[in-house]
Formats: sequence, structure tokens, C-alpha cells
Amino acid sequence: MNETASLRARAEIDLAALRANVRALRERAAGAQLMAVVKSDGYGHGAVPCARAAREAGATWLGTATPHEALALRAAGLDGRIMCWLWTPGGPWREAIEAGIDVSVSALWSLREAVAGAAAAGRPARVQLKADTGLGRAGCQPADWPELVAEARAAERTGAIRITGLWSHLACADEPGHPSIAAQLSAFRHMVAYAEKEGVDPEVRHLANSPATLTLPETHFDLVRTGIAMYGISPAPELGTPAELGLRPVMTLAAAVALVKDVPAGHGVSYGHHYATADETTLGLIPVGYADGIPRHASGRGPVLVGGRVRTAAGRVAMDQFVVDLGGDRPEPGAEALLFGPGDRGEPSVEDWAVAADTIGYEIVTRIGTRVPRVYVNESAGAVHGSAGTVGRASGAPEAGAASGRAATVNGTAAGAGSEAVGHVNGAPTTAHEAARTAPTTADPTRAEARRGE
Ligand SMILES: Cc1ncc(COP(=O)(O)O)c(C=O)c1O
Repeated sequence: MNETASLRARAEIDLAALRANVRALRERAAGAQLMAVVKSDGYGHGAVPCARAAREAGATWLGTATPHEALALRAAGLDGRIMCWLWTPGGPWREAIEAGIDVSVSALWSLREAVAGAAAAGRPARVQLKADTGLGRAGCQPADWPELVAEARAAERTGAIRITGLWSHLACADEPGHPSIAAQLSAFRHMVAYAEKEGVDPEVRHLANSPATLTLPETHFDLVRTGIAMYGISPAPELGTPAELGLRPVMTLAAAVALVKDVPAGHGVSYGHHYATADETTLGLIPVGYADGIPRHASGRGPVLVGGRVRTAAGRVAMDQFVVDLGGDRPEPGAEALLFGPGDRGEPSVEDWAVAADTIGYEIVTRIGTRVPRVYVNESAGAVHGSAGTVGRASGAPEAGAASGRAATVNGTAAGAGSEAVGHVNGAPTTAHEAARTAPTTADPTRAEARRGE
């Protein structure tokens, strides 16, 4: 048994698929640059390895929500353009400006903190002005835009800031034909034109997220910000499956069947006995639960491939485990249960789980918990894991992602052949050898944030 097969559960991250998706999205938005959105630990896929792979495939920008996420990318050795947009009073403005990170400003308070941060850093802040063109979330309202633009231009004239971007975010890009799309596009054009008339000369103007990148070429401007599509997940069922959109799912979630047993007819299953066996049957225990990000809301509905057939979660998903009715089949304990993946072996998709849990694919992958190790396959030749000090290996596998024979790293650490079994319990390595190898993996932004107690 190899070391990854010995894991209770693992999220296999196919970086060749991610690179192929980035290239496909760049083709869709030819003429625009691409920002790889790697917030929230790369939508649960691991921000640093995904950012590196995206860069290799031609992403010129990286985008995060929080400044801490952006700083973690820099600390991991990712250079080039990085932007973050979710600021709260207090910063860390100086640190972000020192690191050359583009900071987003939606209001006078944040512009003023950016100017103060630039003074503290002793270098100009790269500031992007965000317009609220109709989303009603972050961004500056049209009525307040002239005041924000005027003060930003004044700060630019003093040399405190450089206005590098004008940008906004769409509310309904995943609903083709929604009237808000045209309204937001028009508002964006007006707000950009106003700022440019006032002397703003941005490097980039940008509006499009994944659905807009895929379906609304008129929103592409100078840069598209793609998250979900880069991970090979459809932004919305109405837009098509990943395959129809030319995308390949990046994450495969697998678990090892923990127990198989015979039970009589009429046996209640899991908390609350919301499922009872119809006949004498076999039950299989799948050792992942809502603490791992498996939605409890998918109780009685979540699909999983076991022993060549898709089964359904029988009864409630518990914190650490759920049960499937195997209908008399008897896979060996340790047999692979595939919750979702690209579908090559008939396994369900992220979109199937989104339907089962009455949510969106974004939430399914982003929720996968830190107790599930990320196993990276198809890393590029010579990719060095920055401050982690470990080296990703060339697999020689084709970019489409072969099913076997791939070198893997676990949570950003090389998993060498012949090493002892790899596993993480409560995020901690299971062996001293593994502890020694994983100890320096502080580049992981989720962990970095956890350490900061956020
Ligand atoms: C401001 C902003 N831009 C871009 C994205 C990427 O969106 P998507 O994952 O749909 O590509 C997000 C994610 O929600 C976002 O908040």
C-alpha cells in the first residue's frame, strides 16, 4: 500500500488540470490578463501550490480577499502582481504596501489608511479604486465616486499612492440575460470614464469573475478574475458542466472504507434513525463527516462511489463519518470511496454534492477541512515549495492528469516513495519523520491565518 492510499481521507489536487483550466480561460479572454483568485486557501485546494501552478500557466495576477492571504503568498516566494480587496480598519496597510501588494479602496477611510500606510512604508501604495456598480456589497457608490476619485488623485499627485486599477464586481454573471448585467456594465463604463477624465491612468480595469469570463466577453476589459472555473467547477448548472465549459475538476475527494458489516432488515442507521434498512444488507462506514466539510445538509442524499457503484449517504452525516447501504456488496475495509472528482471512474461531481446539499460548488470545495490532507499531483518539474523548503516533483504525466504513477506531495510536502505512511490527525503529522518534514510548511496561508488567531 502506498502512503497516500493509507490515508483515512485525502483531497487529491491535480495541478495539471488547474494549469489546463487557466490556459482554457486565457483563451476565452484573449486580450485580457488573468488573475488567479486563490482566496480562502485557493477555494480549499491550497493557495500556494495553486498560485504557483496558475502562474506557470500564464496568470499574471493573483487575487485574495484578505491582506493576510496576500502576504502569505509573498512570504511563500510568489512575486509579481498580487491584489487583495477585503480590508478592515487597522490594516495591515504598511506590510502590504512594503510587499508591493495592490490594495483595494472603496471609501475615504481606507484611502486615508492606505496613504498613511504608504508614509510608514516609505514607498507609494498601489491602490485600486473599487466601484459599486450595483452589487451592493463592497465598492464606492456612484454618488460618492467623485469625492473618492478627487482625494485619490490628490494623493497620487503627492506621490503617496499610484492608482493602478479601477474595478468592480458583478452580482448576477451566473444568470445569463439578467438585466443587472447590462446595468452594471454601463455603470462601470461611466465610473471608469469619469475617473479617467479626472486624470486617473490605471494599469488595469476589471469586472469579470468566472461566469463572466466564460459567457460575457464584453466584461473582460484588461483583466479577468477567475476563481471557481480555474478549479474546474462550473459556476452554475445553467452554464453547463465543467466538461461542456472546457474545464477539468482539480479536486478529487477520497476516503478509505473503514468498516463493512452485515445487518438485518429494519436496522436503523446513524443518529436519529432517519434511515432503516429495507432488507438484510451490508453497511459501509465512510470515515469523513461534517468536521471534514461533508455537508450535514446532504444527509440521506450525498453520493459516493464505492465498489464500482454510486451509493447514497444513508441517514445522517455525523461529525466524523457517515454510512452507505452497500446492498449486500462487501468491499474490503480500506477500499476507496470516491465522494467527488473529475468523473473518470464514474464518481460523482462537486456539482452533484452541491445539489445534494442545496448549495453551490464553491461551498462544497471551500469547506473541505484542514483534517483532510491535500495531496498534490502533477506538480511541474522543479517547482520549489518556497519557504517550506520542499521540492515538488515532476511526474512526467500528461497535462490532462493521469490516474496513476504521479509523484505527490502532501499539504505541500513531498511524499517520497518508501517513506512511512503519511497521515495527519488534527492537522498534526502522525510520525516523527513526517513531523520533521512538515514542520516548516508555514507558507500555507490558512495555517498562517490560524496562527494569527483570525
Ligand atoms: C471580488 C471577487 N472577484 C472575483 C472572484 C472570483 O469569482 P469566481 O470564483 O466566480 O470566479 C470573487 C469570488 O467570489 C470575488 O469576490
